Amino acid sequence: MIDGDRIKDIIVLGGGTAGWMTAAYLGRALGSTVGITVVESPSIPKIGVGEATIPNLQKVFFDFLGLPEDVWMRECNASFKLGIRFVNWRTSGVGDATARLRKGRLDHFDHIFGLLPNVENIPLSHYWARDKLTGATDEPFDYACYRQPIAFDRKLSPRHLDGTSWTSYAWHFDAHLVADFLRRFATKEQGAGHIEDRFVHADMDERGHVTAIHTETGRRLAADLFVDCSGFRSLLVNGTLGEPFLDMSDHLLNDRAVATSVPHDDAAEGVEPFTSAIAMSSGWSWKIPLLGRFGTGYVYSSQFATEDEATEEFCRMWGLDPTEQSLNHIKFRVGRNRRAWVKNVVGIGLSSCFLEPLESTGIYFIYASLYHLVKHIPDRRFDPVLIERFNREIESMFDDTRDFIQAHFSFAPRDDTPFWRACKDLRLADEFAEKVAAYRSGLPVNMPVTNEANYYGNFEAEFRNFWSNANYYCVLAGIDYLPEHTLPLLEFRTDAIEQARAMFADIKRQQAELTAVAPSTYDYLCQLHGKR
Ligand code: TRP
Repeated sequence: MIDGDRIKDIIVLGGGTAGWMTAAYLGRALGSTVGITVVESPSIPKIGVGEATIPNLQKVFFDFLGLPEDVWMRECNASFKLGIRFVNWRTSGVGDATARLRKGRLDHFDHIFGLLPNVENIPLSHYWARDKLTGATDEPFDYACYRQPIAFDRKLSPRHLDGTSWTSYAWHFDAHLVADFLRRFATKEQGAGHIEDRFVHADMDERGHVTAIHTETGRRLAADLFVDCSGFRSLLVNGTLGEPFLDMSDHLLNDRAVATSVPHDDAAEGVEPFTSAIAMSSGWSWKIPLLGRFGTGYVYSSQFATEDEATEEFCRMWGLDPTEQSLNHIKFRVGRNRRAWVKNVVGIGLSSCFLEPLESTGIYFIYASLYHLVKHIPDRRFDPVLIERFNREIESMFDDTRDFIQAHFSFAPRDDTPFWRACKDLRLADEFAEKVAAYRSGLPVNMPVTNEANYYGNFEAEFRNFWSNANYYCVLAGIDYLPEHTLPLLEFRTDAIEQARAMFADIKRQQAELTAVAPSTYDYLCQLHGKR
């Protein structure tokens, strides 16, 4: 490549979480020979309703920027997350979710981060399934195979007070704080430009590439590459370039949310180190513990609940007065752009695709897209092969997650409301139905790379196999959708069955030990954030 072909200027349109993550990541990946400017419309500061992440955020994103966990956690008031607790996904009967929430263990299962060990190359899940199907155990999958559910119950921290950790974990935070922090980082440490102005229209050349954008105050801003981070409006990809958005409401029914933030007495009640996903009569609610409050929202289907009905059910759950509470009503589109990258414009974040936040994939989609973009970064020829390959990565990232999320609704036993019944009528994508069939036949689905250090260090392998056997088990076994029979191979492995039994016993022992030694999440966060 001759240097003259290299892209020199990048404009990031939009300065939300996606915009500032993009500026910081590309700044680090492409260095100072590229000019990066974020064009952000002056915005009204909003109170965040909480964002949940997954563990590889640190390795793939923050480590790459050279930002240690403790540093950004303090700046962003972040807390810990060990996984997701799904509540009421099996319980039939509409009613007061609050009362059922208080019953704690009654109806919940956990989707836990980290890998399951193998015994003789067969995942531990399959030994559990054999015991479960033969009646040798009635322990639920999560409590039998992982230490973490005990830490959920007791609100234990994944890190000891000396900073070492006993498990992989992710974070909860207010995404606005992360965007502010990354704005300071990108503009002050990396030299990114920042223009506060509103997009009006774009110029295009004869190839259909965007050459410049015009703003409200009359600026003309030219660049070689544009990253559209303008949110649901998708100003450049859907707007200027007219790329169609593929609506996927035939897979997922939810299209609205009502959200708020609720004060919480951390000192008295502790801080939960997990996201909750509470099934409701026409959807589900997230609960994301932040410091001193939790963010929550009811994700529902407008076909099955009006805004008033959803608001009423949501407020009743938390004991809120809908006339006094400040509530955020959100409409969203489910699906993705036909192509994430079109000509010289790449959509990242909500401008590109959106799924309900059931598996905390929103922020992951942003940095996974950035990782793939850097791998395929073009020169000014914009070789279509690079574009095409990037787009294929985004398609499979999105479609696999859509299917996995759809499975939660399809296979949950709840059928007590029109919403839950309608979920059962939606068709699963063929490729996904095959994976479910494999799971039902007793086979492991998407076996992961088993060495955890390698797994979390090898982004390619992890991204390819994002929903692996352990994820399928946590969710499908969690909702009582079990394999139809045990893996036949196990019957030839009597020794391995004994080894697995010893492992189950050891997990019990480790759970007891954890309870004795791990600090509470509240104590750890007080130490980290220097509060009390
Ligand atoms: N591979 C992802 C991870 O382990 C899968 C994942 C996404 C996940 N969202 C999750 C696992 C929520 C547990 C809970 O990080």
